[in-house]
Amino acid sequence: MSKWFPRLYDTMMEPLEKRGFREIRKKLVHNLPGNVLEIGSGTGLNFPYYKEAQKVIAIEPEPIMIERSLTRAKNAHVPIEVISAKSEQLPFPDNSFDAVVNTLVLCTIPDPVKALAEINRVCKSDGKVLFFEHVRLDDPILGRLQDWLTPVWKRLCDGCHLNRNTLELIKQAGFKVTRIQRYYKDIFLVIETLNQK
Ligand SMILES: C[S@@+](CC[C@H](N)C(=O)[O-])C[C@H]1O[C@@H](n2cnc3c(N)ncnc32)[C@H](O)[C@@H]1O
Repeated sequence: MSKWFPRLYDTMMEPLEKRGFREIRKKLVHNLPGNVLEIGSGTGLNFPYYKEAQKVIAIEPEPIMIERSLTRAKNAHVPIEVISAKSEQLPFPDNSFDAVVNTLVLCTIPDPVKALAEINRVCKSDGKVLFFEHVRLDDPILGRLQDWLTPVWKRLCDGCHLNRNTLELIKQAGFKVTRIQRYYKDIFLVIETLNQK
């Protein structure tokens, strides 16, 4: 993993955060109750917006990201613990969490199918599993453009697949989709689901 990406992540994200991502993050997590798991928490950009959770456990494999997230974890409104782990092998017993949060992460996880199976395992039945992700566009020209850009994009952005069909992966994994909101010409989706065992 290149070291510049985690170091510049917050700076690169700032224009997007200002133009609406902060609001999306806030709406997504502010009223989640109970024990919440966040997958690939990066620099902790969601951390300030948890208000109701009893506890948040955030997993993240990249040490620089973890280090940068610790101040946000310390200043959060709820207790947040950041653990070094990968989503494909979650170090928790079955049914440990009331809700799971994924933001801008399924595009990067090397094995999203395995990660979704792990999320299904550690989340309670009917627990909320929430996603804010970018996806491959249905538009034939733009979708192909995303395919074409992905090999270079992946190298530049630490494994991020511009063209991943994340909504389909979520449906195939058996989560019950309850709501989809589309942003920025359908490239970013908020997908609310319930975990089905
Ligand atoms: C684009 S960043 C998103 C960070 C954060 N979720 C956000 O919303 O700003 C993708 C994150 O996924 C993490 N990641 C990469 N592989 C992963 C894996 N196998 N399991 C969990 N997280 C992973 C990266 O280290 C990085 O922090």
